[in-house]
Amino acid sequence: MQADCTLVIFGSTGNLARIKLLPALYHLEVAGHLPPSMRVLGFGRRDWSDQHWRDEVRGCVEHSARGGLDEAALQRLLERLFFVEGDLTDGAGFERLAERLRGNEGFARNLIFYLAIAPGQYGHAVDGLAAQGLNEQRDGWARLVVEKPFGYDLESAEILDEHLHRHFSEEQIFRIDHYLGKSTVQNVLVFRFANLLLEPLWNRNYIDHVQITHAESRGIDSRAGFYEGVGALRDMIQSHLLQLLTLVAMEPPPSLDAEALRDEKVKVLRSIRPISRQAVHAQAFRAQYRAGEVDGERVAGYLDEPGVDPQSATETYAALKLYIDNWRWRNVPFYLRTGKRMSGTDSLISIRFRHPPQQLFQDTPIARLEPNWLLINIQPTECIRMELQVKQAGLEMRTVTERLDANTCFMGSEQIDAYEALLLDTIEGDHSLFLRYDEVNYAWRIVDPILKLWATERNFIHTYPAGSWGPAEATRLFDKDDQDWRNGLDD
Ligand code: BG6
Repeated sequence: MQADCTLVIFGSTGNLARIKLLPALYHLEVAGHLPPSMRVLGFGRRDWSDQHWRDEVRGCVEHSARGGLDEAALQRLLERLFFVEGDLTDGAGFERLAERLRGNEGFARNLIFYLAIAPGQYGHAVDGLAAQGLNEQRDGWARLVVEKPFGYDLESAEILDEHLHRHFSEEQIFRIDHYLGKSTVQNVLVFRFANLLLEPLWNRNYIDHVQITHAESRGIDSRAGFYEGVGALRDMIQSHLLQLLTLVAMEPPPSLDAEALRDEKVKVLRSIRPISRQAVHAQAFRAQYRAGEVDGERVAGYLDEPGVDPQSATETYAALKLYIDNWRWRNVPFYLRTGKRMSGTDSLISIRFRHPPQQLFQDTPIARLEPNWLLINIQPTECIRMELQVKQAGLEMRTVTERLDANTCFMGSEQIDAYEALLLDTIEGDHSLFLRYDEVNYAWRIVDPILKLWATERNFIHTYPAGSWGPAEATRLFDKDDQDWRNGLDD
């Protein structure tokens, strides 16, 4: 049974709210998942009336509604919306917010504060809320939702965490990594732990290496202000890709409850072999896109994007080799890679098994026999694919690769965006798909030495043409000559 609540969005006129949160609320409304008297209060600097915000939200939703606009649902959503004008650094806005929430307009006492703002502003938001006593609800609960990146590096994450904890307990904090809300990502757990078949093979004895790729053909859109100070390693690897790694590598948890899951994920992060300063060049690679062609269109290089410093050394591509020093994974390389303006848009986990110890078929050298691969494609197509060797038709005993796809379960399923799933979990108070602070902390420990070294090397960065799969030099990370990137499901 869902509790009625009021969702307060800080940054309600920003990118995240317009592109993700408000469309997610609309789709939840269409599906009838929102609590009946839930209301949404936008907080922002603009001097907007409730009606003005409703008109703005109509525009965002009309733009992004899946499968045609449901006017009645949109109308119901708009009636839930209210707006309070305020600046995060000025107490007056928080006073107005508190007055409105406590007045007799009928706002539910359970409160969710969603910080869809830059992490540098989180402190102002929680101080402002605490000054009005909104962090502790006597006649309900108060929850705080924060986005990634959580801080800028290990030290800033620690300072930020300490600041949030001055006013909110860990139980109240929901740290979002929207990748955990994607259905194929959750399927990694089901696939691993609901099938006995894989478990005996899921270790260093049978797996040669693991690749986790997130490629995007789009560039930084209009986000230079955010991206310039962040780069690909912080933006994607420290959060989303390391989370995927934990799901692939973790031990079976004793249950699916939030603490049990998060304990296992933390164990993986703690077991990752630290990258020393001397090892950074052997284990990490960064690059930046230059002008090129994407989907048949000429696009600018990163340095020519509006708002980017022409001398910038911010990486738009990062690749990393990690080892997990535990019984299951010792010496199995995990290759993580992400890039903007790549040849395609794809998120893929590729698991390559070892070669069989003997080659019986034809006189092909063992190294050339195709190994088995397990491919988990998260997007754009949701699919789990097993590549097996079978006999080719004909008289000779030659092998050919056959693909077994598990994708029918995704095709017919109710489409649900990650933000919809995570907003519902926040309303229900379920932390399973949110990050506990120790996860964030250990993830920063992994990337921190790389960030520190890169920060001292600002005068050179490799480049790759937009529309490619990244620089060829990145293959230097591979341990063996027969390892290479899998670029997409059908590669
Ligand atoms: C965000 C990053 O967290 O994830 C973006 O800040 C990136 O740079 C996005 O484009 C990718 O998410 P998705 O769901 O589109 O794969």
